[in-house]
Amino acid sequence: MRPLTRRQLLATGVVGAGAAATGGAGLWWVTADRPGRGSNDVLTEPEVLASRGGVLETELRTAPARVRIGDREASVHAFNSSLPGPTLRVSPGDTMRIRMTNALDAPTNLHVHGLHVSPRGKSDNPFRSIAPGESADYEIAVPENHPPGTYWYHPHHHGNVADQVAAGLYGAIIVEDPAPLPVTRERILVVSDVSLDEDGNLAGPGGMMQQMMGREGDLVLVNGQVRPQINAAPGERERWRIVNACPSRYLRLSLQGQDVRLLSRDLGRLPTPEKVTETVLAPGNRVELVIDTRAGSTPLVATPVDRGGMGGMMGSDVLGGEDPFDLLLLEVTGGPVEAPAAIPEGPAPRDLREERVEGRRTLDFGMGMERGGPMMGGSNRSMMAFTINGETFDGKRTDTAVAAGTVEEWTLTNSSPMDHPVHLHVWPMQVIEEGQEQVTDPRWQDVVNVPASGSVKVLIAFDDFTGRTVYHCHILDHEDLGMMGTVATG
Ligand code: C2O
Ligand code: CU
Ligand code: CU
Repeated sequence: MRPLTRRQLLATGVVGAGAAATGGAGLWWVTADRPGRGSNDVLTEPEVLASRGGVLETELRTAPARVRIGDREASVHAFNSSLPGPTLRVSPGDTMRIRMTNALDAPTNLHVHGLHVSPRGKSDNPFRSIAPGESADYEIAVPENHPPGTYWYHPHHHGNVADQVAAGLYGAIIVEDPAPLPVTRERILVVSDVSLDEDGNLAGPGGMMQQMMGREGDLVLVNGQVRPQINAAPGERERWRIVNACPSRYLRLSLQGQDVRLLSRDLGRLPTPEKVTETVLAPGNRVELVIDTRAGSTPLVATPVDRGGMGGMMGSDVLGGEDPFDLLLLEVTGGPVEAPAAIPEGPAPRDLREERVEGRRTLDFGMGMERGGPMMGGSNRSMMAFTINGETFDGKRTDTAVAAGTVEEWTLTNSSPMDHPVHLHVWPMQVIEEGQEQVTDPRWQDVVNVPASGSVKVLIAFDDFTGRTVYHCHILDHEDLGMMGTVATG
């Protein structure tokens, strides 16, 4: 038994108390959220698009869509009219051929978050732009040795990312295990949040302050549903693949009274699943949980996470709400079934501490005052700039040049009073130090939370691909406001 320590939790997110969590309590929702509302809706999952003969050939269309949320109609933006978009399932070695069509009124593109694939050309290229009304073809080759796990896709057009993800544009990607694990069933659980007005229309970010804090929608959804129900029998083993697709909301999840083990965070899997009592996901993070079910009714509870604030720089913090809320209900009833076989041990993860480090650099994630700026509308009013090493994003500038094939040590520091979940495309990061504390096990993630005024040290192996891509804060408003840099490997 090894519950996650507070320190370990800081890796996939952050722990504390105080930030907003008003899930299921939005204005629009109030009428439908009457007390005594009978049974919850049974969890549904998005359509699965799986590769065949080594190829996943499909279309993804971003467009306004009418969807049902609870017992109300809502107008959102969605991939293929589905909230979340379809789940893409591929095996290592497969190629994804995706025709993406943009039926929105703003430019967009496609990013496959967490996949270790080429950033060039028609692959995972965050610099592409698909104009309204246009289509673009993607061809993404997943390497033979790609780690299994739960990944996701979402638009990545700088300046529109938070809006488009908040509007409903996200979907899961699953890279299959080398051999199936002994579980009764698996589920994909895409967690998102959204704000809707009384008519069920998208409510928008709600002002500059909300964008600076990172917008949190007031309705928290699982697979587009409000508090769905999962049914199982005692003794079954569930594998939950959870994606935090919220633009800014951190999720601290617990399933009290159930036997929960952590199988995976972000990519690959842990050699041995670890018992956990809670797990924290920063925006962009995924976890896979294995639950050996016990009879009873257990809510999956999300507890508020303190992710700092504006530190008095712009008046008081705007994120309110301190109450935990239920994301879903696990209903375990019936006669016990025979327990599945033990989960076989997985391969030992690579440990970059045993390899030669050829470059060291520090990236500081900061906030400062800037004159003017489009968000404030005025030319001489000051606003908050979101920077990396003092600079806001410029896609034409190369901020970090790395020699292909080398291992680098990056010290990620945070000089601001707010947490920043730092994400690097293409190459995952091995977390080796959090603040003053060493991380003992090889811990791999693609989004690493850097706490307010804190620092985290990671090692990165720039293997397999050359080209340019980005790193950024995964509070998507921060990314859109400039907290993104470019890295060129060659
Ligand atoms: Cu999930 Cu650059 O993004
Ligand atoms: Cu990404
Ligand atoms: Cu940030």
